[in-house]
Amino acid sequence: MSITRICCIGAGYVGGPTMAVIAKKCPHIKVTVVDLNEQRIAAWNDPDVNNIPVYEPGLSEVVAEARGRNLFFSTDVEAAIDEAQMIFISVNTPTKTYGAGKGQAADLKWIELCARQIARVAKDDKIIVEKSTLPVRTASAIRDIITHTGSGVHFQILSNPEFLAEGTAMEDLDAPDRVLIGGDSTPEGQVAVKALVEVYANWIPQERILTTNVWSSELSKLTANAFLAQRVSSINSLTELCEKTEADISEVARAIGTDSRIGPKFLKASVGFGGSCFQKDILNLVYIARSYGLQETADYWEQVIIMNDHQKKRFANQMIKNLYNTVNGKKIAFLGWAFKKDTNDTRESAAIYVADHLLYEQADISVYDPKVPERQVYADLDYLVSRSPEENKKGVKVVEDPYEACKDAHAIAVLTEWEEFKNYDWQRIYDSMLKPAKIFDGRNLLDAEKLRAIGFQVRSIGSTL
Ligand code: NAD
Ligand code: UGA
Repeated sequence: MSITRICCIGAGYVGGPTMAVIAKKCPHIKVTVVDLNEQRIAAWNDPDVNNIPVYEPGLSEVVAEARGRNLFFSTDVEAAIDEAQMIFISVNTPTKTYGAGKGQAADLKWIELCARQIARVAKDDKIIVEKSTLPVRTASAIRDIITHTGSGVHFQILSNPEFLAEGTAMEDLDAPDRVLIGGDSTPEGQVAVKALVEVYANWIPQERILTTNVWSSELSKLTANAFLAQRVSSINSLTELCEKTEADISEVARAIGTDSRIGPKFLKASVGFGGSCFQKDILNLVYIARSYGLQETADYWEQVIIMNDHQKKRFANQMIKNLYNTVNGKKIAFLGWAFKKDTNDTRESAAIYVADHLLYEQADISVYDPKVPERQVYADLDYLVSRSPEENKKGVKVVEDPYEACKDAHAIAVLTEWEEFKNYDWQRIYDSMLKPAKIFDGRNLLDAEKLRAIGFQVRSIGSTL
């Protein structure tokens, strides 16, 4: 079976870039990305590709090349389902905020809606691909929903989790470490697996395309994120000990990372990991383990989140302590609001929680981020419901110039590792601040020695220098 028509439900941070790359690499396949969110689709279709809703280095160029040729963005979900041979489900699967499993389980409301809609609309056989990150055994629930339609249409369900990281999505999609495809061992299941393998084989070497059963594939995605987040929490757990003992976390990370069994990646100490997935996927893993009665397994992974929460709080508390135990009425400049560099995504960004903590102490915060607009900063704070939108607007100002953010500030907090921060005129910033001018570098990004030579007091994570 050769695939020539693909549809993807969900035009977000995964659906958009993933389908753009499939369209680029497979000009013989028509790729239609659909979403209920009209504004988002309109932005994907904006004639100026700089206005597409996801910022990823290299993405707008690919969209410019493929859009209108074999890449389409639409709100007509039903037409796209009807036309496609293969349907990727790439909708959001956030942590449940209500009912059983609240605060831990994945909310599968949108997945179920997609399954029901596919079942209702499909008139011929379809391959359904789980691209969203899902709890292990979700495919059986989807199968249950779609096989009881009585329409006589046959569906195959594949699990094909996405491993891209935001900020490097285009490189990750172009040359992934691996592509994972889980399918049924039945002959029909294997035909479906082969069809998806052939799509990826247009640009990915066969040996990098792994095939497994559906459940291994679903669980591997949660496991991969849990292991990555665990490394960040592991290194962060030692930052406090470094600060007590005069060891330096960067030196420790370098020393352990050169052991090839440990490896150098994901050992960067920080104010804490953010992003839409690490926390939600670990909470989901914890929930699944508990639901099988596996208490020790659940507790083990939950600790990764506990450590991350501690790190965010610790950073904010250190700032307050260092600012003579009061930030009331003091201007604090935030450099960065996104959860990491090279993305406009702010979901679960550590900056939100640090701001929340400082606002409790009545600080005046001034935020600058090169890619995050003002409305997003307020939306993030309002979502916490710690205080009213009016109070958030009063306590936080968002500015478009970093020098304005820092002017007359008592302190600067570096919360995202944007490269441009390194190249600022730091002497000018120093001159414009109240003294002693302090920098709390939550990313260990800046050259602390150079800044100290100017006169700044600098605190890095996991270092007493
Ligand atoms: P997102 O919120 O950016 O996008 C999801 C989109 O789906 C939204 O635009 C929403 O409007 C749309 N949608 C929801 N229900 C719909 C429906 N019934 N019909 C049509 N559209 C619908 O989410 P995302 O970051 O792209 O993540 C999607 C999935 O991929 C999640 O399961 C996530 O865990 C997983 N994932 C994300 C990343 C990442 O870096 N963001 C990486 C790997 C995996
Ligand atoms: C992560 C995974 O890396 C992807 O493989 C996965 O597909 C994705 O989650 C997902 O499922 O959503 P992402 O969250 O986009 O990708 O970004 P990461 O690069 O993993 O960074 C996550 C957070 O950890 C960021 O806040 C980052 O600053 C922080 N981090 C990362 C550190 O603090 N230290 C490090 O050494 C690495």
